[in-house]
Amino acid sequence: MEVARVETVLITGGAGFIGRHVTQLLLDNGYTVRILDPLIEQVHQGQRPADLPPAAELIVGDVRDRSALSRGLEKVDAVIHLAAEVGVGQSMYAVERYVSVNDLGTAALFEEMVGRNIRRVVVASSMSIYGEGLYRTEGGDIVENAVRRPRACDDASWDPLDEQGLPLIPMPTPEWKRPSLASVYALTKYVQEQLTLTLSAAYGMEGVALRLFNVYGPGQALSNPYTGVLAIFASRLLNGQRPIVFEDGRQRRDFVHVSDVARAFLAALEKPSAAGQVFNVGSGEDRSILEIGNSLAEAMGRPELSPETVGKARIGDIRHCFCDVTKAREVLGFKASKDFGQGLSELARWVARQTAHDRVEQARRELEQRGLVA
Ligand SMILES: NC(=O)c1ccc[n+]([C@@H]2O[C@H](COP(=O)([O-])OP(=O)(O)OC[C@H]3O[C@@H](n4cnc5c(N)ncnc54)[C@H](O)[C@@H]3O)[C@@H](O)[C@H]2O)c1
Repeated sequence: MEVARVETVLITGGAGFIGRHVTQLLLDNGYTVRILDPLIEQVHQGQRPADLPPAAELIVGDVRDRSALSRGLEKVDAVIHLAAEVGVGQSMYAVERYVSVNDLGTAALFEEMVGRNIRRVVVASSMSIYGEGLYRTEGGDIVENAVRRPRACDDASWDPLDEQGLPLIPMPTPEWKRPSLASVYALTKYVQEQLTLTLSAAYGMEGVALRLFNVYGPGQALSNPYTGVLAIFASRLLNGQRPIVFEDGRQRRDFVHVSDVARAFLAALEKPSAAGQVFNVGSGEDRSILEIGNSLAEAMGRPELSPETVGKARIGDIRHCFCDVTKAREVLGFKASKDFGQGLSELARWVARQTAHDRVEQARRELEQRGLVA
């Protein structure tokens, strides 16, 4: 049985890409929504997003600011915590900023929530906490702690290898795989997730963490070169440039549409049995980066702009990680339903109406200057 609807939900970081979709879905389902978001420059260029649902109340403020938090939490029944600095590569040098926003922000949020009548807190965690996904050897042994060693020569496999030097075979990654925190971003997301579960349990709130895989769809920040591989590719294509792909492009991920992710948040807010648990949120389908680069170029009418593979890896990047969706299906009743081809066509139509500043080369230079590309 579903619980009675909570009425007012605070969404931290709710003006962002995922936040706006979650906001709209909650409003459509009868919730009152308040957003706390400082509209950070890197994502919003200082502007209120045009598609921010007007029925949501927006407090322009930082999740670390106690007075903004106190106003934001007034008469709130539940919290969806999305506020974060989002970028794996950037987190490796903007360390203080990432730790501050993601972890001190979560700490401040919880200190302000204690003593209020808040039933449930749902936090956006990330697949990045897994590091490498789950693998098996050719003989069928499960490998939870695959790591990549430096490649012996230019034509060596990019895949993690078993003890005999044979490439490991990637499998869908379930929630029980132990985390392997390969970047500052991953570390901060894991702390966000664990703070949420630990403190919710201690103070009689219900904590839920959703480990989101690669989210895509309309509204993703196109000019932010630090996050969202499809948005980064779209921005390049829109500017007549070939997408840049690291390694050989055969690394595999799970792309899940933002409308499905919004439905997962609604289920995580409402399902009683979700309390205290962690769920993967993905489509259950895996694709290579090269494949999605080519598909997007086609969907955007620029098939000649096929991805350019650079044959280098970014420090902290993983080879394969894609989603085992079993637990979310069984406990949350959640199943992604967006067809990938249709999702890409819609994304292409949305992108065609946007302008995007392509800052990918600049972002790549920043990593290279710091020795974060090998
Ligand atoms: N997009 C993905 O593929 C993906 C995957 C895994 C996890 N996530 C997580 O989902 C959440 C939302 O991501 P998104 O893709 O919508 O990113 P986004 O950058 O579009 O949204 C993040 C929002 O947080 C806000 N924000 C930044 N600093 C803040 C602060 N100090 N206080 C309050 N708000 C602040 C930003 O202004 C922005 O509106 C994040 O927690 C992210 O780590 C996203």
